[in-house]
Amino acid sequence: MKLTVKKVIPFFMALLSMNSPMITNAKDTGVKIEHLGVNNTLVRITGDGKYLLLPIQESNDDARINLLVNGDYKKVINARLAKSKIDYFVPVDMAPYKNEDVVLTIVTSQGRNSVREAKEDACWKNIMLSDTFDTSNREKYRPAFHHTPLYGWMNDPNGMFYKDGVWHLYYQYNPYGSKWQNLSWGHSTSTDLVNWESHPTAIEPNGLGMVFSGSSVVDRNNSAGFGKDAIVALYTSADISQTQSLAWSNDNGETFNIYPGNPIITLESEARDPNMFWDENHKCWVLLLAHALEHEMLIFTSPDLKSWTLQSRFGKGLGSQDGVWECPDLFELPVEGTDEKKWVLICNINPGGPFGGSATQYFIGDFDGKTFTPDTDANGNVPTKWLDYGKDHYATVSWSDTPDNRRTVIGWMSNWQYAAEVPTMQFRSANTLPREMGLFKAADGQIYASSAPSPELTAMRDKLTVKSAKIALSAKPKNFNLPSDGICEILMDIEANKAKEVNIELKNSKGENVTMIYNAESKTMSFDRTNSGLIDFSQDFPAVTVTPTYETDGKIGLRLFIDRSSIELFGNDGRFVMTNLVFPTSPYSTLSLKTNGGKAKILNLKIYSLKTK
Ligand code: FRU
Repeated sequence: MKLTVKKVIPFFMALLSMNSPMITNAKDTGVKIEHLGVNNTLVRITGDGKYLLLPIQESNDDARINLLVNGDYKKVINARLAKSKIDYFVPVDMAPYKNEDVVLTIVTSQGRNSVREAKEDACWKNIMLSDTFDTSNREKYRPAFHHTPLYGWMNDPNGMFYKDGVWHLYYQYNPYGSKWQNLSWGHSTSTDLVNWESHPTAIEPNGLGMVFSGSSVVDRNNSAGFGKDAIVALYTSADISQTQSLAWSNDNGETFNIYPGNPIITLESEARDPNMFWDENHKCWVLLLAHALEHEMLIFTSPDLKSWTLQSRFGKGLGSQDGVWECPDLFELPVEGTDEKKWVLICNINPGGPFGGSATQYFIGDFDGKTFTPDTDANGNVPTKWLDYGKDHYATVSWSDTPDNRRTVIGWMSNWQYAAEVPTMQFRSANTLPREMGLFKAADGQIYASSAPSPELTAMRDKLTVKSAKIALSAKPKNFNLPSDGICEILMDIEANKAKEVNIELKNSKGENVTMIYNAESKTMSFDRTNSGLIDFSQDFPAVTVTPTYETDGKIGLRLFIDRSSIELFGNDGRFVMTNLVFPTSPYSTLSLKTNGGKAKILNLKIYSLKTK
């Protein structure tokens, strides 16, 4: 019989759909796909390769991927497997399962009419093994000098400690997509707070749930029994409920052992983000836990990091109560220019920040080893204080075991209002620059926290591109070129003199700009990003943020750090700070200075280009 082409094709297709559920991909992808039903597919690993690359479509729903090794559950991954288009790939590390039988059973969630329809999904034709995964920095808005994960989603920094000259930074991480999911502890290290090296994921979800935020300490006296100088981490296991779990590391935080007695703290309501420190005065460990929905911090103590006793509760009815309370921290600092020392209790809240969404509030007070007592103002009220008056500063906590009595902190440079919508894909979210905490007394008699750029950051400077000792400023703009990539540090001192307002504008050739105004009368500084570039990915993004400047003499010193998609403004050595994301469609190329009437002085203007990665 002579077969015509017309007849062959339907015959072949019928064979494929009826006879066997197994389809071997035409190219050698190292996987075999077997469709088991409308929402269930089995992927068998048949080849060799360091990574299994999963094709992701961000707008799709999560599929649940059970990874089985020799028939046993190894991990569950939730990933937005691609249906109609592939936005990017994410790698599943296959190295640990070399020479084992690996099968993935995948449950997709979209409604479908038939298996035939399910087979059309882009992911099945493109899922493959590979020996390489490209993590090179290739996105327009990928920061040049801020820490980001190599790829994937990041939120809170957590579990940070310093040991043997190395700054360890862990972070809330999704290694399988650039949206919040599969929360694990990602890990990066630095010896200079400028250059960061990425390490394998340190703690992954297990049967108790995802791995939410927490803290780590160096157990110098082996109080927990995991060895002298073991790193002990406490984190929240998050499933239907939230419990607190312990993990320890005997290789300086590279890999962690999960404590078999987990969870070590259970409560009847939502509590998370354990943050602990050694209290030298009372010779015990202290732990703060955010009792999120109750808007309070629970304070525990322990001799051994494993058994914790609830000592007190702080915060009911105090400070900003709008959102959930999260990510606490507690530490003591000297008050600048005095012999006094005070405790700072950090309480991140979401929503309820001064400009909407998430922000970091703090309380100043005393701590007696069991109870935190906040300072009050002249009227006997506990004032609400904010560490950063921008929109993109959250979950700020400090490194433990830092040298030279430093209290170094870092934040997540985003806002829960739109963090998942910002116009990036290969990665989502960066950290703020690391900052040094201090305390100062302001004219209102209150003690406030300052957070200044860490001293190491001056090493980022490359060329001094603008230098001007003294500029007489009027309403006529004075313009200065920024480095061509827009990435720079700008320093200047402002003496407002007769001018009420001094305008600092960054602008590009596309008509986009950021305007910062120092108002010497109201003693405020504002930051307007309503025309800063891409703004319409979220109605909550366009904003004007305003900070008090706390000075009394109409003089301020400014330090601005401009990266590809962020601006950090530090005033008077961190006494006021604003951190805001911006997405200019081309880099800001000009700094324009003027007054809004009257004469002012700009002293010591300097613009440095910065070394970029
Ligand atoms: C804060 C937070 C924490 C939690 C983590 C989960 O941003 O909500 O309370 O541990 O993120 O990713």
